[in-house]
Amino acid sequence: MAETKPVAVVVGATGGIGRAVAVALSDEGYTVWLAGRDEAALKSLAAELPDSAPWTVDFEDDVAEVPLDVPKVDVLVHCAGVFASGTVDEMPEDQWRQVFTVNLFGVVGLTRELLPRLRAARGKVILVNSTVVRTSAAGRGAYAASKEALRVFGEALHQEEIDHGVQVTTIYPGRVATDMQRTVRRGEGGPFEPARYLTPETVAAAVLVVLSTPADGHLTEFVLKPAW
Ligand SMILES: NC(=O)c1ccc[n+]([C@@H]2O[C@H](COP(=O)([O-])OP(=O)(O)OC[C@H]3O[C@@H](n4cnc5c(N)ncnc54)[C@H](OP(=O)(O)O)[C@@H]3O)[C@@H](O)[C@H]2O)c1
Repeated sequence: MAETKPVAVVVGATGGIGRAVAVALSDEGYTVWLAGRDEAALKSLAAELPDSAPWTVDFEDDVAEVPLDVPKVDVLVHCAGVFASGTVDEMPEDQWRQVFTVNLFGVVGLTRELLPRLRAARGKVILVNSTVVRTSAAGRGAYAASKEALRVFGEALHQEEIDHGVQVTTIYPGRVATDMQRTVRRGEGGPFEPARYLTPETVAAAVLVVLSTPADGHLTEFVLKPAW
């Protein structure tokens, strides 16, 4: 892989949004590490993108046990996540823990692991959150709570890393046309209508906006909703 290019790590690169982000960053000339748990799918994506490589990490395992052999990381984009529906009354504690393990603790652990290399690059961390924060429909408690916790994590990290030159940005997308949204709509009992949702490529374009912001500015957070 080329040494001189900026380095990006995209977590959840096998997912709808993560894949689009990985493609966009590759097109922008980044060396892209494709992080996720499905090794075969990551390898297949790596074969399509120049200067990319798979990095197999499962957020339900200890991410520190799978070291990444790069001295610096310019951009870390967190796109891994799981959705779960179920009322407080019916959702078992194990499922609450799994949602928090992937949507929060995995993000925390992997970010901590890469922090020295992000500092070395005065890099950027981008958290793909959700408009579900600060509110929740009935039956969405675990997902919404995990995303609210992720929001607060992002704020803390932002404050802590200012002096290290690492910028943290949270993007809150509305509905995006991916497999996860299919699951959401199934749970809601409504049709999957991708033409009414954001495309994953539009979320990827928002990531590029963050990265193209001049150095004297810092986009700390923004909401991205479908235009109709
Ligand atoms: N789709 C929407 O409408 C929407 C809206 C707002 C926010 N978001 C957020 O955007 C992010 C991406 O969502 P998406 O729509 O792209 O979903 P997706 O297509 O279902 O992709 C989810 C990604 O997370 C990965 N993942 C799941 N469990 C994991 C684990 N234990 N360890 C590592 N990776 C794991 C998946 O890997 P596998 O391929 O191995 O399953 C996949 O790459 C999520 O955080 C989601 O909450 C989505």
